Amino acid sequence: MSVQSLPLIAGNWKMNGLGEDVSGLAGALLDHVISAEKMPCTMVLCPPFTLIDRVSSTVQDSPIKVGGQDCHVESAGAFTGSISARMLADIGCDYVIVGHSERRRDFGEGDATVGAKADTALAAGLTPIICVGESLEQREAGQALDVVSAQVAGSLPGAAGDVVIAYEPVWAIGTGLTAAPEDVAEMHASIRARLDDVRPGDTPILYGGSANPDNAAALLATPNVGGLLVGGASLDPDAFWTVANAR
Ligand code: PGA
Repeated sequence: MSVQSLPLIAGNWKMNGLGEDVSGLAGALLDHVISAEKMPCTMVLCPPFTLIDRVSSTVQDSPIKVGGQDCHVESAGAFTGSISARMLADIGCDYVIVGHSERRRDFGEGDATVGAKADTALAAGLTPIICVGESLEQREAGQALDVVSAQVAGSLPGAAGDVVIAYEPVWAIGTGLTAAPEDVAEMHASIRARLDDVRPGDTPILYGGSANPDNAAALLATPNVGGLLVGGASLDPDAFWTVANAR
């Protein structure tokens, strides 16, 4: 059997959680990690900005990593309400999600902006998790592979450095719908081929979109799926731990 690197399992809490929830979420997960013999994956928690400090303190000295859910394209300046990648690094983050479809949709972020965010993340020492994914209309029109391939190429940073791609079909996010295994395999092979052209290396390609304890093993067994970006199921520490152990 070939040696496989550990899957990357990232939890995206989105706009959920208050201080009182940190021990029940991050603390409960830490208990699982402490009682496990070894880490089954590289685990990243992406809480809302307000909880990053508390989650970082909770998981410090453990293998659990912390990430932000977004960052500004600039490192500092007059950008009221925004958070920079340097600030995330300063508060204990190793990762940051950029280009999530909810931000592309709600804040009009296009590929160039996402690529610029990935660049500023790298400059701050963070690994950007760059999200891509087609809409239902695009899939039904047979455009999914082309749309996502263009998003991948357009959203990559210019600078060298480790990045992660997360393929999240928009229609599968938070809906309970998951892409069929053959569609995931086809898409991930297509993304891998595009990456081989434009950024050769072993960039992990995650799947996201209603990943949960029931479908995680099949998703992680799909060729070129290097991990999962988990939304809803990451808010249940037992479910997230099951997902983390699914390969
Ligand atoms: P979901 O979210 O697992 O709730 O579908 C995934 C994501 O948006 O990252």
